[in-house]
Amino acid sequence: MKTKILRVAACFFATASLSATAAAPTEILTKNACLACHGVANKIVGPGYNEVAAKYAGQADAAATLAKHIKEGGVGVWGQIPMPAQPNLTESDLKTIVDWIVAGAQP
Ligand code: HEC
Repeated sequence: MKTKILRVAACFFATASLSATAAAPTEILTKNACLACHGVANKIVGPGYNEVAAKYAGQADAAATLAKHIKEGGVGVWGQIPMPAQPNLTESDLKTIVDWIVAGAQP
């Protein structure tokens, strides 16, 4: 019993320190000008991140599809306006954004 509580506590602290060092998703979105075209909770030129999260909810390949569409850009999923490729986005920032969308894109 005691060991279990300790393990839960260790897990909590590990998560807390991780999120303190990694850049917040919204900071990455601001830094890369994503928010010029996407609102977190509303459509601008592209879909709101809440809409993207809802569309891909429960899909096993959501993370891979989103990572590819963000990095390489794309068109035709939401309409005829293309999403530009993002060659300057680092792999770790890309992963943070994709994980955040898959987790529901909470502001
Ligand atoms: C010039 C405007 C513009 C910018 C800047 C932009 N996007 Fe997009 N984005 C779009 C449009 C338009 C679409 C819809 C494309 C389509 O219909 O396939 C889209 C689609 C998406 C999708 C959904 C892809 C899918 O498979 O459904 C994600 C996720 C996304 N963008 C993330 C980002 C991120 C992250 C950034 C910044 C690194 C960014 N976008 C920057 C316009 C933009």
